[in-house]
Amino acid sequence: MMNLSNKNILVTGAAGFGVGHGVVVALSKMGARVIVNDLTLEEAQAVADTLPNAIAVAADITNENQVDAMFTTLAEQVGVIHGLVNNAGIGLSKEAHNVTDEEFDNLYNIDVRAVWKLSKLFANQLIENNTEGSIINISSVHASATIAKYAVYASAKSAVEGLTRGMAVELGKHNIRVNAVAPGYVHAEQNLELIKTFADDPELWVEQHTKDYQSLPFEILAEDCGNVVGFLASEYSRAVTGQVIYVDNGTTAMLYNNSFIEK
Ligand SMILES: NC(=O)c1ccc[n+]([C@@H]2O[C@H](COP(=O)([O-])OP(=O)(O)OC[C@H]3O[C@@H](n4cnc5c(N)ncnc54)[C@H](O)[C@@H]3O)[C@@H](O)[C@H]2O)c1
Repeated sequence: MMNLSNKNILVTGAAGFGVGHGVVVALSKMGARVIVNDLTLEEAQAVADTLPNAIAVAADITNENQVDAMFTTLAEQVGVIHGLVNNAGIGLSKEAHNVTDEEFDNLYNIDVRAVWKLSKLFANQLIENNTEGSIINISSVHASATIAKYAVYASAKSAVEGLTRGMAVELGKHNIRVNAVAPGYVHAEQNLELIKTFADDPELWVEQHTKDYQSLPFEILAEDCGNVVGFLASEYSRAVTGQVIYVDNGTTAMLYNNSFIEK
């Protein structure tokens, strides 16, 4: 079992039931003091209350004042933060040539700009305290290969992977590691809403996707992603930086779907 008992780890957007929830559950099982962030304190607190030794902190990660206030509060109440998981993110199911300026800016503000901004504040508090730490960005299979209506989201996740590699190169001298976890399809509220935009029966779509578009024929659980995040936050990955680990049940390794070749 990975031991994160000496680590404070901030996870953004951790009050949903998708990847973020699996991350805080896994980190908590490994002994970390998890800091659950989300838009409202009520939602963040509700999740923190289910975990041992967790605390809740509200902030819209796109709001500079709220993000600054969150780091100030954490410095006072918790001390140094050793791990940052940039989980909060949104999708968009629309062809790039129909996306509005507002939709583009909104997606990039959450999925890219906030990842940079929080990583910046996180890294600087580690450098000031001469402490090592780890950033884990949540990317997506869409950074590797995508589908129609996901070009803008795919480009944002590609930016996240570029930031991951670049910041890993820059921050290595401070013993700060930067890696990413790229999930395949994981059950989450916002996913169901997106699937409804292109499939009449979202549950059937998920079943078919699981059978036909993955090498491993079972659903990826949010905690599967969390376990890899835990590894990347732990000493076991001390020599790993600038990497993206795909937690996708083999999706991105496949050239064609399983039904292309009859068994
Ligand atoms: N679920 C998937 O299949 C899947 C696949 C690949 C990548 N991802 C990525 O995983 C991450 C989590 O997505 P998820 O779909 O699993 O959802 P999730 O359940 O982890 O929920 C996302 C949370 O982010 C919060 N949030 C949104 N905007 C915020 C903001 N501005 N400030 C603070 N919190 C905010 C929401 O309130 C929600 O609780 C995202 O980065 C997403 O792109 C998800």
